[in-house]
Amino acid sequence: SFINRICPDWKMIPELSKPSVYIKDRQKVEKILTAMRQTGPSAVQVISDFDMTLTRFAYNGKRCPTCHNILDNSKLISEDCKAELADLLKTYYPIEIDSTRPVEEKLPLMVEWWTKAHHILVQQRIRKDLLAVVVQESDAMLRDGYQLFFNHLQEHDVPLLIFSAGIGDILEEVIRQAGVFHPNVKVFSNYMEFNDTGVLQGFKGELIHVYNKHEGALLNSSHFQELKQRHNVLLLGDSLGDLSMADGVPDLENILKIGYLNDKVEERRESYLSSYDIVLEKDETMDVPNAILLHIT
Ligand code: C5P
Ligand code: MG
Repeated sequence: SFINRICPDWKMIPELSKPSVYIKDRQKVEKILTAMRQTGPSAVQVISDFDMTLTRFAYNGKRCPTCHNILDNSKLISEDCKAELADLLKTYYPIEIDSTRPVEEKLPLMVEWWTKAHHILVQQRIRKDLLAVVVQESDAMLRDGYQLFFNHLQEHDVPLLIFSAGIGDILEEVIRQAGVFHPNVKVFSNYMEFNDTGVLQGFKGELIHVYNKHEGALLNSSHFQELKQRHNVLLLGDSLGDLSMADGVPDLENILKIGYLNDKVEERRESYLSSYDIVLEKDETMDVPNAILLHIT
């Protein structure tokens, strides 16, 4: 259209000029934005990671918790187990974000981390009815601008899939307490299994960790089949493992990948820039995803 020719989509989104925004191929981003804007909200679906993507990485210089950390740091866990879980985090998190190690090498180690952590959590006989309190008492925080993000998607009937290697019961509680667990939200995650008396017994289904989201996507093909008219995907993640969250989408036409680069920024910038279309460095807000959503829907 005329307006598009004199004023590219690009310039219509001032948030893309924030100092936290890094883009390798501006023309590609421009092209995707134009295509998505032309087809509008009925062709869009959003697929987002949860921890450190929808939630903040840090607040006032202090790290914010992941779903697992919310439990790890809670009153439901004994001091001994807290120490064990903290040791696991100290051992495996640096491996998770190490850009010098190939993913194949990390895979078994990630399975090991999740398995050991889940085993410890099960030993604690965690009660289902206390999860809400634990979330309430935690430092979990959704990124600034989350209300607009969730509410806008709901208002425009755009489905939001939250695809998380965290804990489904916890993340649902976080978004429920924030008042944004709308009917358009669907969650793929690790869900807790409780016995008749409401005590944690284990986890349901196949384990999802940061680097096997591809498999999770394929296992849930019926979800993507239901949304098969939605050929345009906005993908949000913070790990390179999140890039495969849209692998189950049939007839994908356009995908815009936005990646939060929260930690080890210098070391990882290059790899993020070559795999995410838009990289948000140490940006604790939803400003860019929100501006893009308002633009294309
Ligand atoms: O929602 P998302 O897929 O980001 O959840 C996974 C995150 O949870 C990972 O980035 C990992 O660092 C974190 N994690 C954790 N404790 C564990 C296992 C994973 O904090 N025991
Ligand atoms: Mg994450």
